[in-house]
Amino acid sequence: MSTPSHEHPEVISHLTKAFAFPISAYDGLVDQFIKELHEGLTQENAMPMIPTFVYELPGGDETGVILSLDLGGTNLRVCRTTLSGKGQFEITHKKWTISDALKKGPGKELFAWIADRIQEFADVYCLNEQTQATYPLGMTFSFPCEQLDINVGKLLTWTKGFRGVDVIGQDVVKILQDQIDARKLNITVNAIINDTVGTLLATTYKHPGCEIGIIFGTGTNCAYLENQSAITKIKLGAPNFASPTNMQVINTEWGAFGNKSGALPTNQYDAMLDSRSSQPGKQLYEKMVSGLYISELARTVVHDLALKGELFMDASGKPKTDAELGDLAVKERFDGAMMGTMEGDNSTGLDDIEKHFLTNYSLNTSQSDRETIKYICQLISARAARLSAVGIAALIKKRELLTKPKQVIIGIDGSLFNKYPNFRRHLEGALNEIFDAATVKAKISLIHAEDGSGVGGAIAAYLTCKERCYFQD
Ligand code: GLC
Repeated sequence: MSTPSHEHPEVISHLTKAFAFPISAYDGLVDQFIKELHEGLTQENAMPMIPTFVYELPGGDETGVILSLDLGGTNLRVCRTTLSGKGQFEITHKKWTISDALKKGPGKELFAWIADRIQEFADVYCLNEQTQATYPLGMTFSFPCEQLDINVGKLLTWTKGFRGVDVIGQDVVKILQDQIDARKLNITVNAIINDTVGTLLATTYKHPGCEIGIIFGTGTNCAYLENQSAITKIKLGAPNFASPTNMQVINTEWGAFGNKSGALPTNQYDAMLDSRSSQPGKQLYEKMVSGLYISELARTVVHDLALKGELFMDASGKPKTDAELGDLAVKERFDGAMMGTMEGDNSTGLDDIEKHFLTNYSLNTSQSDRETIKYICQLISARAARLSAVGIAALIKKRELLTKPKQVIIGIDGSLFNKYPNFRRHLEGALNEIFDAATVKAKISLIHAEDGSGVGGAIAAYLTCKERCYFQD
C-alpha cells in the first residue's frame, strides 16, 4: 500500500490510524470471540449460535437431481443441481437481482415475487408435467431463523438492509409454500438452511472432513459442526434435537460479534455508518467486514473528506456541498464491486477511479484525490480481511482443530472472498500472524466453495428425504 500524495499529510495519517488493526490486537480479540461463541451456545441474549437440524454431513456419494432456491443479500437464484457422486455436480440456474423496492417493502410481497420466479423456472424445466407427485426443494435463506425443524424457519430479524417487518417471527417456509401452492406448482420446500450451512455441505460433498463453512459476501457469517453436549441452551433429548451423531451444525450468525461487549476496534466512521443504518447497534462485526458495509464505509469516508474540503477541491477553493456531490452524498450509492475495481486499478493515472467519479457523481478528480480514494479502499478492505481472520482463528481454536491429526478444511464463498482484490491475501497474511506461517501452510486449507448456496441447498434437500423423493432425469 503506498501512501498517497495528499496536500495535507495529516489527513492521511489520521485515516491510517483510524483503520489500523495491529498484530498486538489479535490475541485479545480472538479470545473475546471464543468467549462470545461459547456464550451463544450456553445462554440466550448472546451471539445467536442457532442450532440447525443438520446432524450429518454428506459423504460425497449422493446422487440425484434436486431443486434449490438461494435467497442471498443481492440476488435470488433458482437452481437445479445434478449430484453425480464422487463429489461431482452440475448446476443450472436462473438468477434475478432483488430490487430495492422488494428488499425494503412488505415481506409477503417478496415471497410472492420469489414464487413467481420459481414458476418461471418450473415452466422452463417442465416441472409441471405431473411426472411425479412433488419435487423437493431445498431453500437456502441467508438470514437468521430459529429452526424448529429442518423445514421450519422462524425469521428472527432481517439483516443486510431488508425491511419486511410483516414476516418477522413467522415461518418463512410456510409463507413460501403457501405461495407455491397458490400457483399450483408440484414443489415441496422440504429443507431450509442458512447459506453458511449450504457452504459447509457443498464443501464437504467435495472435500470430506470439512467442518466449517463461511460467507464473506454482502454479509458475513459462519456455520460449523459442534458437539451437541456443548450446546447447553437447548434441551437435549427434546424429540427434535435427538442427533443420531451427537454432533450438530450451528449457524453462528457471527455478524453479531461485539454487539454487546464493545470489543471491536471501531472508529468515528464506523460509528457514523452504524448510526445511519437500519439497525443501529446490531451486526457490528458484519458492518466492519462484509461487502455491503465496507463499500458504505468507503463512501462515508470519501463523503466526509469532501465536505471538509479534503477532496474534489477546484480553483474556487470552496469545499463541495451535498448538492454538488450528487449520489456520493446518498447512502449505499457506492457499489462494492466498484470499490474492488478502484482498489485494483493499477494504471498510473488511476483511470478507473477517474471515470467512476465522473460518470456516477459528475465529479472531477485530481491525481491526489484518486490516490487518496484508492488508499481509503485499501485501508478498509485490509482491515475487513484481518478481522475476518480473527473469526476463523477463533473457530479453529475453540474446536481445537490444530491439535487433531487431520487437515483443517474451511469452505468459503461470497463475492468478497472470491473477487475482491487482495482480500484473500490479507486474510491469509493475518492467519500467518495469528498462528504461524508454517502451521497455516501445513494444516489449514481455505477452499472456495463452488456455488455453496445452490449446491448446499440441494444437498440439504437430499439429506432430508434421501432416495424417497428426489427425482431422476
Ligand atoms: C447476514 C445474515 C446471515 C447470512 C450472512 C451471509 O449476516 O444474517 O444469516 O448467513 O449475512 O449471507
